[in-house]
Amino acid sequence: MKVFVLGGGGREHSLGYRLAQSADVDGLFFLPGNGGTARLGENLPISPTDVDAVLAAAKEHKPGLVVVGPEAPLFAGISDRLTQEGFRVLGPSTKAAMLEQEKVFAKEFMQRHHIPAASFKVFTDIASAKHYVEGKDSPLVVKASGPALGKGVIVCSTPEEALAAVDKMMAERKFGRAGDRVVVEERLVGEEVSILILTDGINYISFPPVQDHKPIGERDTGPNTGGMGAYAPAPLVDAALAERIEKEIIQPVLDGLRDEDIRYQGALYMGLMVTQEGPKVLEFNCRFGDPENQPLMMLTDEDLLGLLMDTARGRLRTRRIKTRPGSALCVVAASEGYPGSYEKGKRIRLDVEENSDLVCFHAGTRAQEGKLLTSGGRVLGVTAFASDLKKAKERAYAPLEHKKIYFDGIYFRRDIGDKGIRRLA
Ligand code: AMP
Ligand code: GLY
Repeated sequence: MKVFVLGGGGREHSLGYRLAQSADVDGLFFLPGNGGTARLGENLPISPTDVDAVLAAAKEHKPGLVVVGPEAPLFAGISDRLTQEGFRVLGPSTKAAMLEQEKVFAKEFMQRHHIPAASFKVFTDIASAKHYVEGKDSPLVVKASGPALGKGVIVCSTPEEALAAVDKMMAERKFGRAGDRVVVEERLVGEEVSILILTDGINYISFPPVQDHKPIGERDTGPNTGGMGAYAPAPLVDAALAERIEKEIIQPVLDGLRDEDIRYQGALYMGLMVTQEGPKVLEFNCRFGDPENQPLMMLTDEDLLGLLMDTARGRLRTRRIKTRPGSALCVVAASEGYPGSYEKGKRIRLDVEENSDLVCFHAGTRAQEGKLLTSGGRVLGVTAFASDLKKAKERAYAPLEHKKIYFDGIYFRRDIGDKGIRRLA
């Protein structure tokens, strides 16, 4: 079977890496892919949000499955359109993707179905929003309801910061129409964890819990990025907490979607805060995580194509995914300056022998005349598997520390996984 993977980051490279190992895959196409995916299949220079162009390519190559990596094509209606045309797609409809696209929808959905989350209020006019914020002395989080490229969330410590955030969204309109509606919610305290499942709308398969590292700086300092590294399984989630997450969050979410006649099919990502009162949902994403997916793909011990086909066809059985016994860790190598502005086109040295325990997933790279060049902020995700987390960390960092993997201005956090290692000590 031929398979399309939409997107061109580390998440898509890691999906392709596992798909290429499936005996039933006899052609992989990435739209648009990157320097790493070019070694696994064919990169087609097509934007995944250009629904007409993706459809035309699908008619030409006839994939048996189209796997959607990022959220933007889902919001653009890729799943609905390709499905109408008879293609099998891994990824939810635009209606179901509202869980990620509109924070107001997600918050009200959770409220209707008693899913634990931060208390909140929605505002459409600036005066009421400011009045509300002025009357609160506990820390708040201000969120633009619509999609804002992951930047529409401002975590505030003081009422002044919250007022400035409201101004930024509703007066200065920094996030455009995404700020038409603003959610002001209680700031939760705890440790974050990402929970990923594959669901056909009824049953689901859960991946091990993963911990991302969003801020650019060590010890979680500085501005947020797309994610600077991730590891799994996160020991923060013990057996008792895993059970609570299934009972209090995953099952009610799936039941709620069914009650509202929303058919959800694909990967569902739940960003949770583990608070003293228990796990609470911070956000939903209607896709795999990036970089969460990179360690998950190294850990899973199943035929990925089979799982994705079962999901798309509605044939899952609820269970946990089979994994290799051990831990996996991904450290992101970024361009100097990221998440601000940065230079591109730096020559990349990749002097490592990759094997099933060490893979260098490409994110922002492109191949040109046999050379590999940087082409994005997050460039590579060096991902290792080992019998325990500490060893996985050592294995992933070794080629970076010894400059076997290198480019001008390379930056990476040195503390990926340390929260987990401390917890296990
Ligand atoms: P979101 O896009 O909603 O996940 O928000 C991005 C990040 O903001 C999350 O990963 C958290 O670190 C933080 N965040 C969002 N909502 C809250 C909240 N209610 N309390 C504390 N931190 C939050
Ligand atoms: N790593 C965060 C995300 O995928 O949204």
